[in-house]
Amino acid sequence: MKFTTLAMLAGGTVLLGSCATDSRDPTQVRAEALTMMQRDFKSQGIAGMDRLKEDSVLAACNKYDDNPPPELTAKLEKEQFATIQWPADGKLMGDWKAGERIAQNGQGMAWNDKGGVGGSCYNCHQIGPATTSFGTIGTSLHQFGKKRGYGPEIQRYAYGKIYNSKAYNLCSQMPRFGHVKALTEQQMKDLTALLMDPASPVNQ
Ligand code: HEC
Repeated sequence: MKFTTLAMLAGGTVLLGSCATDSRDPTQVRAEALTMMQRDFKSQGIAGMDRLKEDSVLAACNKYDDNPPPELTAKLEKEQFATIQWPADGKLMGDWKAGERIAQNGQGMAWNDKGGVGGSCYNCHQIGPATTSFGTIGTSLHQFGKKRGYGPEIQRYAYGKIYNSKAYNLCSQMPRFGHVKALTEQQMKDLTALLMDPASPVNQ
């Protein structure tokens, strides 16, 4: 059996994979799949054809099966880190209540969205003890601030990780919410507060 999959995660992440029983060169299978999508897909609303383009990070992660050589990983992580736009007012903490709504909202980046809807965090992470339904691709975020500390460095890490997860872990499966403009600066501040405010349900 042979099949090729295309998954479009929030913000234009394109993952192309092919099944092991296909004896052809995977690079060629990918190229054929891409040609097919470029031919058949139509851009609509905010879902443009640019979503089919691999950037340097996705190209390296695809090429090296999510494990590029250390020097390349370090170089690309540094480049990704440089893309993070820190809030001009220097404040990283917004309103955790708004953050909770964003974390539990799975909508965003659809062709008819205007951008800045939900973060889908619950799809991969446990958020707080009261979350009954959540995915486990990512680690549990329950007591994130309580365990890691509430200091400015961890605040900065939380904001930066949400903005561009691949700056910290190149082939992370987590979408780059700020980088691809899936979330606004205010929304990322609200999510940082959700993780870092001692009063937030995350830290109970
Ligand atoms: C598609 C799955 C996915 C989604 C959606 C996702 N994450 Fe993640 N996240 C991960 C994975 C996997 C990791 C662990 C690997 C890594 O560090 O990249 C992670 C790691 C993290 C970390 C670092 C945890 C630590 O202990 O250092 C934070 C913070 C985080 N995510 C916050 C969020 C927030 C907030 C959202 C919603 C805006 C979110 N994530 C959405 C998959 C996801």
